[in-house]
Amino acid sequence: MPGFSVTIVILLFVGNSFGANYSFTVDYVKDCFRKDGQEFRYISGSIHYNRIPRVYWKDRLLKMYMAGLNAIQMYIPWNYHEQSPDQYSFSGDRDLEYFLQLAQDIGLLVILRPGPYICGEWDMGGLPAWLLNKRDIVLRSSDPDYIAAVDKWMGKLLPMIKPFLYQNGGPIITVQVENEYGSYFACDYNYLRHLTKLFRSYLGEEVVLFTTDGAQVGYLKCGSIQGLYATVDFGPGGNVTAAFDAQRHAEPHGPLVNSEFYTGWLDHWGKRHSVVASATVAKTLNEILALRANVNLYMFIGGTNFGYWNGANSPYGPQPTSYDYDAPLTEAGDLTPKYFAIREVIKMYHKIPEGPIPPTTPKYAYGAVKMRKLQTVTDAVETLSYSGPVKSMYPLTFIELKQAFGFVLYRTTLSMNCSTPTPLSSPLNGVHDRAYVSVDGVAVGILERDKVIAVNVTGMAGSQVDILVENMGRINYGKYINDFKGLVSNLTLGKDVLTGWTIYSLSIDEAVSQGLLWETEPTSMDTPQPATLSPPAFYGGSFLIPSGIPDLPQDTYIQFPAWRKGQVWINGYNLGRYWPSRGPQMTLFVPASILSTAAPNNVTVLEMEEAPCITGPCTVEFTNSPILNATVQGDHKQMELFRKDNFLP
Ligand SMILES: *[C@@H]1O[C@H](CO)[C@@H](O)[C@H](O)[C@H]1NC(C)=O
Ligand SMILES: *[C@@H]1O[C@H](CO)[C@@H](O)[C@H](O)[C@H]1NC(C)=O
Ligand SMILES: *[C@@H]1O[C@H](CO)[C@@H](O)[C@H](O)[C@H]1NC(C)=O
Ligand SMILES: *[C@@H]1O[C@H](CO)[C@@H](O)[C@H](O)[C@H]1NC(C)=O
Ligand SMILES: *[C@@H]1O[C@H](CO)[C@@H](O)[C@H](O)[C@H]1NC(C)=O
Ligand SMILES: *[C@@H]1O[C@H](CO)[C@@H](O)[C@H](O)[C@H]1NC(C)=O
Repeated sequence: MPGFSVTIVILLFVGNSFGANYSFTVDYVKDCFRKDGQEFRYISGSIHYNRIPRVYWKDRLLKMYMAGLNAIQMYIPWNYHEQSPDQYSFSGDRDLEYFLQLAQDIGLLVILRPGPYICGEWDMGGLPAWLLNKRDIVLRSSDPDYIAAVDKWMGKLLPMIKPFLYQNGGPIITVQVENEYGSYFACDYNYLRHLTKLFRSYLGEEVVLFTTDGAQVGYLKCGSIQGLYATVDFGPGGNVTAAFDAQRHAEPHGPLVNSEFYTGWLDHWGKRHSVVASATVAKTLNEILALRANVNLYMFIGGTNFGYWNGANSPYGPQPTSYDYDAPLTEAGDLTPKYFAIREVIKMYHKIPEGPIPPTTPKYAYGAVKMRKLQTVTDAVETLSYSGPVKSMYPLTFIELKQAFGFVLYRTTLSMNCSTPTPLSSPLNGVHDRAYVSVDGVAVGILERDKVIAVNVTGMAGSQVDILVENMGRINYGKYINDFKGLVSNLTLGKDVLTGWTIYSLSIDEAVSQGLLWETEPTSMDTPQPATLSPPAFYGGSFLIPSGIPDLPQDTYIQFPAWRKGQVWINGYNLGRYWPSRGPQMTLFVPASILSTAAPNNVTVLEMEEAPCITGPCTVEFTNSPILNATVQGDHKQMELFRKDNFLP
């Protein structure tokens, strides 16, 4: 009856013009949320706009809507929007307001988690690395320098958010303050109180503010305070009643909320791929919904840690490029059996939207692309180091060099004759995170944080030592989030502290996207020898999108047969890290949006260890299906990498 719905629309419109209609509140008597006065329960899914190219936001949100969700939950990573102090970015893939508007247009409410700390397996838990300019800053506490930075950021962000609050006609129903603060050592209630006041001052008294903590009374102790509605998070397979009992300990009344119900789990390089059975997820979801509880499925779609954005856990274990999470929608947004299993459960409680579900997007196998060697990092160092080197007696960290991500080259000389193998070591385990060591252009070994603290070197006094240090992602959880990168303590040769460094901050992303590495021919005239390890070097290749096939370009996956470890760019877009020699991730997701039909597509690879180019086919390969679960290789044994024949002629 069209006439009927027209009336409804008019009533809503009139209601809104008086500002009275839109309300979202906690009902402590009936133990539920109320939306516009009506009992309301959300079934939400997590999606991180920062892990999905903007062109796919709508497709992913529609698929979430069609699963029967009535809300999404999202983080805002501070470091994604303020990469250097006062330099804000909210456009393109960072267009937060556009994402919020899309969600609303599709019919999804929003549970917003603006941090300032977000965890999320994201570099430094979303905190900008430049906070470490103050060496001993206590992050996530009342430390005045931390608070000053938070106040400034929130002063920029929260006014942007305000028009999107439900009360103001937008999609945001609730806003989380901090994230799992009860798992952090500081237990600083003044900090939580400060954030509460700050959020209230920008967002008003009406909005429901909440906290999330692990479903144990111990976590809720430091995580929850008066004025913020306490919720819990827990995964499938456990005792749902017992988990909500923990929430009831902090909130005797009000709606039950699981803010992170895990549909899968995260991965680490060198550890098995995590999978959680659909049946287990479906069973526990059913139990949660049967209790009238609100739930957010974390993740509903994981997406990708493009570029350098992955985080790490401690002892140092970085997360891979894919954040697939074994979620109901894959990294590439594909529908899975888990998606349909969850939809069946939701159907038992809520009305599911009718109509077609957007289909899985097709993938295309563009095949093998021949690569050729460009320059080594050492050869290209003048091109890569825009600002020129810095001289320092002792090593400087990335932050001291004003560099956040990527790679820094540390150069010095052997301080003594090493005619027999002499240990070059980091006695304080200060290589953050991986160092590729070469002497006079010959690769001699790799130092790795928490794993390998010494390599043997040989050579004459005065030989050039190049140490390329890779930041593999900052720790995002726990006590050690003040994660400085580079050489964070001195290196020794034998018993001597190495001094007299020349340090090159490297702008590799800029050089790659400007095509600088392509234009220069290799300078070293060596005839390559098969080696177990070579100095880090760039490789390039290109491919055309075939013509005559409809609907190309399509999404694809790139894989690295017999390559070892590195970083890959296509047309200057940094896709992330590959590390097939460690696993479990073998393929990287390549969205069609970065491919061109108008020009050859340029693949640039920075291989850190050894490319297959002397001994076998020098190719990378584009395939149409992902492999995220290869058997992992145990940690490399140092001796395998150590070149025994590196006595110099
Ligand atoms: C689940 O926990 C509740 C509350 O702690 C307890 O009463 C119940 O027996 C538990 N159920 C199972 C199956 O262990
Ligand atoms: C290293 O050895 C060379 C030749 O054996 C010698 O001339 C030089 O003095 C030595 N240098 C140091 C620093 O010991
Ligand atoms: C370095 O060489 C010495 C002597 O050959 C050997 O005992 C030691 O294990 C080697 N150390 C490393 C880290 O390879
Ligand atoms: C390196 O050692 C020197 C001398 O002991 C010391 O002053 C300096 O702080 C150390 N540097 C680092 C980065 O540890
Ligand atoms: C790839 O590089 C070539 C040579 O620099 C350039 O002409 C072409 O436009 C690049 N392709 C794309 C898609 O940017
Ligand atoms: C990886 O996942 C695929 C698809 O689920 C499965 O067929 C395959 O057996 C798995 N491989 C390993 C090594 O677990």
